[in-house]
Amino acid sequence: MTIHIPPGAATPANDWDRRGLPGWTYHNPALLELEMDQILLRHWQIVGHVNDVPKPGDYMSFDLGPERAFVLRQQDGTLRAFHNLCRHRGSRIVTEGSGHCKNALVCPFHGWVYNFDGTLRGAARPTSFAELDKHKFGLKPVELDVWMGFIFIRFKPGPQESVAATLAPYATEIGSHLPELMVPTGQLWNSELPVNWKSVRDVDNEGYHVAMAHPALQDLYGFTYRDTDYGPQLRVSKGTFKEGAGRMWSVRHYVRNSTPHPALPEDRRSLWGYYGVFPNAVFITTPETIQFYQELPIDVNRSIVRGMVYRYPEESRKQRLARYLSYRIDRATYAEDTQLAIWSNESMKSSAFDSFHLSDHERFLRAHHDDLRRLLPVLKLDHPPAPERMAEVNSALHGARD
Ligand code: FES
Ligand SMILES: [Fe+2]
Repeated sequence: MTIHIPPGAATPANDWDRRGLPGWTYHNPALLELEMDQILLRHWQIVGHVNDVPKPGDYMSFDLGPERAFVLRQQDGTLRAFHNLCRHRGSRIVTEGSGHCKNALVCPFHGWVYNFDGTLRGAARPTSFAELDKHKFGLKPVELDVWMGFIFIRFKPGPQESVAATLAPYATEIGSHLPELMVPTGQLWNSELPVNWKSVRDVDNEGYHVAMAHPALQDLYGFTYRDTDYGPQLRVSKGTFKEGAGRMWSVRHYVRNSTPHPALPEDRRSLWGYYGVFPNAVFITTPETIQFYQELPIDVNRSIVRGMVYRYPEESRKQRLARYLSYRIDRATYAEDTQLAIWSNESMKSSAFDSFHLSDHERFLRAHHDDLRRLLPVLKLDHPPAPERMAEVNSALHGARD
């Protein structure tokens, strides 16, 4: 059953299924393969920002499941993405998360050399290949799109249109922060969590836990926090600084020093917004920053959470201090969420676990699960199919769905 949530509705109808995804779906390797192939690799993934790679030769790499890619700034200033895979024997071409290449891409294994546009310039000891048709051995391209200064890639064709079309309902609000101008702060998130990727988003997708689990957020915006549905797969949560915020030191000093960019409209000058990017990411806006983060499965029980914070290029001392304090609040929140994700995730292996029992305040979590179920109807089953039948059962359910 799919619940219908009217835009801005306080509560959905009372007869919805509150159980969440069944526990087996968080610990099943065959399912993860399907999720990777059918969902994660077929949806736009955020790699970074155009100002992470400002000069020709700058690159960022991005790994997801079996795939590896990198984005490279070309000599003419444009961006291209390639599979990070040498056509000789598959070595990585670029080896770091980000870096700079001079003039050409040189494979670290045997020294094949590629041009920035991916064409093969030459193999080491070329005569040892008899005839080597260079045109057949260029780097394979990966689809790339840029929206509001953020770089996205997609490994396989998928159901989403361009990023601009997909995220159009966010354009005015996120655009009001002038994200194209922003520059990286260097505050890279990159941590490994012992949880299934879906558990990270489950914690993120509801504000019911904020009052109990996040003392700093509760102090900052408390019950001003609201969830809003912006359309299919687009859900936003917002909180504004509340009257009397600042019982905690970091919150008090943050609110006191918060200095919004002059271009920000009035209704966003004391607002933190969380803009979901289906299926595995979020943009967070504050008056000083925009950050993204995303969860990327390593295996069924482990995920990398990766993200970055961006700021305005010119900052006053006060803005800089506010940004530092907002980062402190956000880091504390992240640590709290991490613990909650771990506990919830590991509970699903216990004999005592039956199912979730969701509040009306967790309806976005349910809506996110519905979005996943639409793509992978096998998620509706109470018990897992045999691993070797996972894809086949899913296809059969796709054919049979309403
Ligand atoms: S694997 Fe790249 S040159 Fe051999
Ligand atoms: Fe949280």
